[in-house]
Amino acid sequence: MWVTWREATRRALYGDGGFYLRERPGRHFRTSVHASPAFAGAVLRLLGEVDEALGGPQILDLVDVGAGDGLLAASVLALAPSGLAGRLRVTAVDLSPRPDGLDDRVAWVAAVPDEVAGLVFANEWLDNVPVDVVELTGDGPRLLLVDPETGEERPGPAPDGADLAWLARWWPLRAEGDRAEIGRPRDDAWASLLVRLTRGTAVAVDYAHPVDDRPAAGTLAGYRDGAAVPPVPDGSCDITAHVALDACAAAGERAGARTTTLTTQREALRRLGVTGARPPLALAHSDPRGYLRALGRASEEAELIDPAGLGRFGWLSQSR
Ligand SMILES: C[S@@+](CC[C@H](N)C(=O)[O-])C[C@H]1O[C@@H](n2cnc3c(N)ncnc32)[C@H](O)[C@@H]1O
Repeated sequence: MWVTWREATRRALYGDGGFYLRERPGRHFRTSVHASPAFAGAVLRLLGEVDEALGGPQILDLVDVGAGDGLLAASVLALAPSGLAGRLRVTAVDLSPRPDGLDDRVAWVAAVPDEVAGLVFANEWLDNVPVDVVELTGDGPRLLLVDPETGEERPGPAPDGADLAWLARWWPLRAEGDRAEIGRPRDDAWASLLVRLTRGTAVAVDYAHPVDDRPAAGTLAGYRDGAAVPPVPDGSCDITAHVALDACAAAGERAGARTTTLTTQREALRRLGVTGARPPLALAHSDPRGYLRALGRASEEAELIDPAGLGRFGWLSQSR
């Protein structure tokens, strides 16, 4: 009954009757995609940049990895000008079943296609790739084992050589009781995506921490109905942990990425024109309804780039 966190999370989220095969993510939390259509607008602008860099190919891929309810893929397609929309091949990748009512033009598949030329976008995907949890004990680092029914933990075996090497490079444990989440499966997941990208850009957006500022207690968390709950891997809640995006970036480079940008959502979205700027007051007199609409949009944009909220997310962008 005692299993590693990685295995317990895999079963809880993606096993028989697992949380993500059963539930729609939107019911349990709100991502940037749900916060505002301005997010899809920014992804469309990024897609335009990729299109230009590739010289306007006849078929341009948009692949939404960990697509959840498919809203991002469908929204970008709906916003795209007809000239671009006609050349777009939109693929949503998720392990869960195709959502009802999703735009027919969006293909729904369980794995990233073998060859992608265009933009691959993964919003809050990597944090749901299961990881092992390790704790520094008096006897050295030990993988934690968990009882899936209660969430109770106890120390298990020492991590293997590859995990120890990852920890030494990316998340050194310093004091007894320190915990770390071993990001190797995320590095591998990200690299497997980069090798399928023949030309274009891949972007991962997630809560992240840098190597010089990892949280000593780790970040493993549970969510149900939009609220934080103890992370019990019994299939009743989402299990997530923040992402070592810098380690993923290094894995992406090993997999062939030629350029890497690691920044915050605030910076990335501002560059793409999401500024949260309020409309001029004069509009309130000339067009009161238009003013209110613009004000609503500005406050949604402000939420997306809030430095204390969604704006703190990491954006890893790699091209080849
Ligand atoms: C937190 S949700 C994010 C949904 C969406 N991107 C959004 O921003 O609203 C993560 C999604 O990733 C999917 N997922 C996790 N691992 C996956 C994998 N290996 N392949 C495909 N989808 C996966 C889950 O099923 C879930 O729908």
